[in-house]
Amino acid sequence: MRIAALASGTGTILEALIAAELPISLVIVDRPCTAMAVTKSAKIELAEVIRTDFSVNFDRDRYSDELLAVLHAREIDLIVMAGFGTIVGNIIHLAYKNRILNTHPSLLPAFKGWHAVDEALLAGVKVTGCTVHIASLEVDEGLILDQEAVSIFADDTKESLHERIKAVERRIYPATIRRVITQLENGEPLS
Ligand code: GRF
Repeated sequence: MRIAALASGTGTILEALIAAELPISLVIVDRPCTAMAVTKSAKIELAEVIRTDFSVNFDRDRYSDELLAVLHAREIDLIVMAGFGTIVGNIIHLAYKNRILNTHPSLLPAFKGWHAVDEALLAGVKVTGCTVHIASLEVDEGLILDQEAVSIFADDTKESLHERIKAVERRIYPATIRRVITQLENGEPLS
């Protein structure tokens, strides 16, 4: 099973996947980011499919074509998002149906989207968490594979809360990916 991890940020989730010795053959980044250094120090192949346009005119289909060409060229079977900042287009979802995994810093279906941690704080909820799920074209939808709750404390900031959530993600995401690999290899339904 050849796995590609897609990252845009600090790469701490990526580091956890690498530390868990998941067979990651390729890391793709969409912008210069710390995840590149993480990839290089782990001696994993790095592909830079750099996104130059962050405006409303962003050509998502063209970017997704480029991404798909890289995934196909490296014969990737499974995609794991590790803090990837670009929503991939339908062509990727068609080619990798049920083979794109994501971790999201909220208890889905609550707080979808990019500001999940902030929104949980603003809503005044006492508990949030993280969700590992299959990524589908609709953002943060798709079969939920695992979830874990994280308490929100009165003095939490976005940073402190996100860090506590990520500590859980770094534990449950590798474990879920491992389970999914086994299920895919055995031809079992994902759960
Ligand atoms: C994680 O919280 C993940 O849920 C979200 O992006 C964050 C990535 O963290 N999609 P890092 O850049 O790996 O530290």
